[in-house]
Amino acid sequence: MVGSYKPEQMRDGLAGEAKRLIAQVQLTFEQELAILKADGVQDGDLIMEVGIGTGAFLSRLIDAFPNATFIGIEPNIEMLDIARNVLSQYLNEPRLIHSDIQGLHNAAIEPVDHIIARMVFQHLDDSVGAAKTLMTFLKPGGTLTIIDVDGALWGMVEPSITELVGIHFKAWASQGAHGGDRFIGHKLTRILRDAGFEHITLQVAAVDNVTSTMDNFVPLIHPENLLPQLEEGVVTLPEYKRAVKGYYDFINNPDTTILTLNFIACGLKPL
Ligand SMILES: C[S@@+](CC[C@H](N)C(=O)[O-])C[C@H]1O[C@@H](n2cnc3c(N)ncnc32)[C@H](O)[C@@H]1O
Repeated sequence: MVGSYKPEQMRDGLAGEAKRLIAQVQLTFEQELAILKADGVQDGDLIMEVGIGTGAFLSRLIDAFPNATFIGIEPNIEMLDIARNVLSQYLNEPRLIHSDIQGLHNAAIEPVDHIIARMVFQHLDDSVGAAKTLMTFLKPGGTLTIIDVDGALWGMVEPSITELVGIHFKAWASQGAHGGDRFIGHKLTRILRDAGFEHITLQVAAVDNVTSTMDNFVPLIHPENLLPQLEEGVVTLPEYKRAVKGYYDFINNPDTTILTLNFIACGLKPL
């Protein structure tokens, strides 16, 4: 598998990443679900999620569409094992395939109604190629929905944690050096167009600490998330210490705003 996703290097390894993914899905799931429905996803459809991770998003989808059929794709075998356990609480025999998108070519999968890739395309080195591969698994008129973020448009915090700004850009540049693209959010529609999709739509799921709570953001913004980058040498110790101070100043200030944006782009396979 080529790409920039390294969950075992995240804070607290895979277990920590599984918790972070649940928190991340929780923040915007209801908005993303409403957008998926508006883009044509219906109960009873055949839905494939690629890059299911530990099943945080797929388990919520299964809950939301009890009569739909699901296929989950995941290249990381340890994450797939966790997902299998999680999803077994929802389905008797979750249909899961151990593969990355690039390796799916020979998979025996019947044409599906919808494919969803959430927080996956930012880790790919050939997004248009991946979207073209996914199109081959869709029924004519079926949809590919890509949900992702953009480092330049990720949202805002007020008052700004200036200590974190430079660090984040360094971490995102490092993701780019490993084959990913943290600034992919504003490119999703172009990726779909260049892969041959039609009727492309773009929407945003926005959440802040009034529509959700600051507690729900903590697993995503906690400075200890930067420990792997500190170990790797991407972030220096003085930078890390400044980030910790900035974080606590922010979190202890009752008059703060944090707002984040997820981009949701959807395209149709031509009839
Ligand atoms: C941030 S996680 C998102 C998991 C899940 N979609 C969610 O929203 O909770 C990114 C996932 O993309 C998967 N991934 C990375 N590169 C991939 C590829 N080339 N093909 C398929 N999945 C990939 C990773 O293994 C990981 O499970």
